[in-house]
Amino acid sequence: MISPKSIDEVLEIARIEDVVRDYVDLKNRGSNLIGLCPFHKEKTPSFSVSPSKNIFKCFGCGKGGNTAQFVMEVEQLSFPEAIRTLAKKYQITLEESFKQEINPELQQEQESLYIINQFALNFYKDNLRNNPIGQSVALSYFKQRGFLEQIIEKFELGFAFDEPDALLNKARKEGFKLDFLQKLGLVTAQQKDFFRNRVIFPIHNLTGKPIAFAGRHLTSDSKSPKYINSPETELYQKSKTLYGLHLAKKSIRDKNNCFLVEGYTDVMALHQAGIENVVASSGTSLTEDQVHVLKRFTQQVSLLYDGDSAGIKAAMRGIDLLIQGGLDVKIILIPGNEDPDEFIRKIGADAFEKFVENESKDFIVYKLNLHSNEIKNDPIKKSLAAKDIIQTIAKVEDPIKRSIYLQQSAGILGIDEVSLISACNKIIGDELKNKVFRQKREALDNDQKLLNELSSESNIKTQYNSQITISNDEFQEIDICRILILYGHHKVNVNEEMHYAEFIIENIADTLAFFENELLKQFILDVSQQISQGKIPELNYYLNHTDSNISKLALNFSINKYEYSSNWEEKHGIFLSTQQAPELNYKSDIENSILRFKLKKFNKAISEFERRIQLNEIPEEELQLELKSHQHIVNQRNYIAGLLNTVVIN
Ligand code: CTP
Ligand code: MN
Repeated sequence: MISPKSIDEVLEIARIEDVVRDYVDLKNRGSNLIGLCPFHKEKTPSFSVSPSKNIFKCFGCGKGGNTAQFVMEVEQLSFPEAIRTLAKKYQITLEESFKQEINPELQQEQESLYIINQFALNFYKDNLRNNPIGQSVALSYFKQRGFLEQIIEKFELGFAFDEPDALLNKARKEGFKLDFLQKLGLVTAQQKDFFRNRVIFPIHNLTGKPIAFAGRHLTSDSKSPKYINSPETELYQKSKTLYGLHLAKKSIRDKNNCFLVEGYTDVMALHQAGIENVVASSGTSLTEDQVHVLKRFTQQVSLLYDGDSAGIKAAMRGIDLLIQGGLDVKIILIPGNEDPDEFIRKIGADAFEKFVENESKDFIVYKLNLHSNEIKNDPIKKSLAAKDIIQTIAKVEDPIKRSIYLQQSAGILGIDEVSLISACNKIIGDELKNKVFRQKREALDNDQKLLNELSSESNIKTQYNSQITISNDEFQEIDICRILILYGHHKVNVNEEMHYAEFIIENIADTLAFFENELLKQFILDVSQQISQGKIPELNYYLNHTDSNISKLALNFSINKYEYSSNWEEKHGIFLSTQQAPELNYKSDIENSILRFKLKKFNKAISEFERRIQLNEIPEEELQLELKSHQHIVNQRNYIAGLLNTVVIN
């Protein structure tokens, strides 16, 4: 148990921008910082960090919260684990009572899995360093391959004995659950050690925790596969993992470049040669998720591949993904059939560094040359090659680079440049149309997601399943909640006692019955109640509200609010009359929000009246009176529409 005092201390000291920067490249955007969300795939940043409020929020996937919540989410940790992680980062000593010291049975499963992996790592490592068999079999193997002590230590290499249950026995003594050992793939269903007589390469997550292992056999004549790997678990998803990233991330950022190699030993060899910005895709072709991870750290990737082009061709799809992800891709081909590890051993670290510098080629130019050798004078092949290369060039974001590539392509392929340009523009145009469409959808989905989330646990399922389309009224209702949360505590006028919260509630009181969204209505009622007790809630009241729906709402609005409201027009066909960012001009933001809300409700009343007229639902004797009140509403509606400077479309 961590004492509440310690938790507060950590949450006070840990800066959100600091913590997030370990995972996300952040850029300034007004008072906030923005970057690519680590929780979902995206190409344009919608992940926002507010240093002043010490919170983060992603407008793409909706995740948000404080520093501890960020660490929990990104590292998949429990709350206490997240606090411990932060405490370590900030060198805060936690007051902790150790009554329930790490007992895997009581810990949350995921924590246990990490603990067991760490245990296994220590075990394998110890075998290699301190056991005579490990030393003579495994340590000497690495040394024979030319790896130095410090590299063996840095990568935490290990050794699994050639025994059926060395790890299992040790784990049993420690009291670890068999179930978890099997889940992690360390022990087989037959209750035997999975890794036997192999050297062990631990695979780490971004923060350096072991999430999986690879084991390489030591005898090349063996019939078993050269490498075997842990299965996928909650901790380890192969397609999202890049080997060595935890050791490379700082250097990747500093150099704004990342070398990409195929093998574990290649990563180690580059480190030994003094190059730390390197990761391995571990033999598979790159995945979209891996590209997404890389993009959080750098703009440029340099592929280090062996010269036989079979490997490259296999990697082609992954490379297109990199380009599409907006990354600059360079390629460095190693002569012959050697991989980087072998090549460095042959020519030495200094020569390798020079080699890398001199041989680095732009990938598209490389691809073009590859084609030019194949097509010669075959017109069909030529046109196919042109199509292929244009597809790739169209993915390049920088227009200047794009036009240079097109020019080069025209020359090398012997095709008219103008037709290449127009073909490329068509692809880009189509893509852009799709993109605008997608963005509009995303913006709407976002609000829909929020509305869907604003429900009790039991409601969530039915809401998601039934795919309710939200009426525009609900968006307007959300907008009212937004201004209440953001500006409610401001005074309406310096000389007056009234706060905006009172002003807003007073203005919409007569429409409460027409609220479409029950949860938003509950929120308004909660605020009304506070006000009637003489309290004016501030942002923190909402952020820390015990009703998670209310805290979610508050979080959603309390950060990057201008972006949120600036796209109202695009999202909902509503025209803002204010030009200034709402946070600079909240008075008119509030007024407009109330007016827009009322406009909606009046329009609704008008359509309802028209419907009843058409269906002859109004009794003769009431018609006169109803018509009169209808006219009154129409007048008010037109007046408000005039104020909002909008055209009324019915
Ligand atoms: N790989 C794998 N399973 C295999 C073979 C390869 O997972 N049976 C992955 C490993 O991540 C390996 C990478 O593919 O590092 C590249 O394979 P390879 O070039 O064959 O191995 P090297 O990394 O060169 O390993 P070594 O130098 O020890 O032979
Ligand atoms: Mn190798």
